[in-house]
Amino acid sequence: MRVLKIGAKVQSAKVGDLCLVFSGAWQWNRFGFVTAALAYDSPGSIGLMAKTTKLHERQIIALPEDTPFHPAQWAGFSLRYVTAFGNWKVAHGTFRLMLTEQEYPHPYVVSWGGGVAWAQLELAKLSGYQCIMFTSDENRMAALKEKGIAAIDRRPLAAIHFSQQRYQTDVVYKKNYTAAEQLFLQTVAQATNGEMASILIDHIGEPVFRASLKALAQPSVITTSGWKLGMHLSTMRAFESGYWHQHINTSYARYPEAIEAIQFAQTHNWIPPFPERIYQFDEIPQLAQDYADGKTSYFPIFQVNPL
Ligand SMILES: NC(=O)c1ccc[n+]([C@@H]2O[C@H](COP(=O)([O-])OP(=O)(O)OC[C@H]3O[C@@H](n4cnc5c(N)ncnc54)[C@H](OP(=O)(O)O)[C@@H]3O)[C@@H](O)[C@H]2O)c1
Repeated sequence: MRVLKIGAKVQSAKVGDLCLVFSGAWQWNRFGFVTAALAYDSPGSIGLMAKTTKLHERQIIALPEDTPFHPAQWAGFSLRYVTAFGNWKVAHGTFRLMLTEQEYPHPYVVSWGGGVAWAQLELAKLSGYQCIMFTSDENRMAALKEKGIAAIDRRPLAAIHFSQQRYQTDVVYKKNYTAAEQLFLQTVAQATNGEMASILIDHIGEPVFRASLKALAQPSVITTSGWKLGMHLSTMRAFESGYWHQHINTSYARYPEAIEAIQFAQTHNWIPPFPERIYQFDEIPQLAQDYADGKTSYFPIFQVNPL
């Protein structure tokens, strides 16, 4: 977004600045943790389709003037990469509280698909982890391999869609689910030389959570900021404690973390690829349809005004 006018006390941006919308923030607590997100769970807040809008200065961050990246890449960055930065910091930090780099320099990170996970795997790689993503898209598989991240086709695992109720009542479902879960675990074991996942990134939730937990090493971290396909999860505490499984839950990031993420992006070239299509304002319904049909990239964007 571009700043058109500012209030007298605003210090974080000036008229004409190109800014990133700090979109998670509508309300925050005294430490800066977001308690309600712009448009998402803040009744009466305006969304991101207004042609002009009024925001608090803590809801925007001026982009560096010398940035080599296109505004469309920063738009792709603004939600998923900022979320990835906040979540990865806690996941990686927690793992390293349990095992140091001297003890285990190159652990495995295993991930399901999605843009937040993609950004986290890039961070994991920079931190020395060996990275693997399960994806159903061949273009992504090729792009991941180019980045030195192993890509595994998840299409043979389509039956990993856990439902407690069906598992207890439907014999055919149970047989298919169990076979797919075993295939997943064998695949993870093979891809990690039997070491399993030290960090597992799962923003999908309910249908894959049971399989995700089983793919964890001892000790390990399962980390998330999302519940794309379901948020009601169950665990066996004795098992999770005994195997030192740490469950990390975060949402978006604090304002200073977003600033840090932008600086990190600049110095480490950590940014989404240039989008293959920028949807115009009138094409937003088409974007929604393309996303639902799985035809968009991990970082689809729309443009409200010409810049
Ligand atoms: N709390 C926050 O601040 C925050 C911020 C950002 C996102 N989120 C949440 O995090 C979740 C993920 O968001 P995202 O933007 O990273 O990704 P996304 O666009 O919601 O995820 C899409 C990808 O998830 C994978 N996927 C879909 N169904 C799957 C299944 N049944 N099993 C395994 N993988 C499956 C697919 O990857 P492939 O096509 O490659 O197979 C799909 O393309 C969402 O729920 C989102 O709302 C939360």
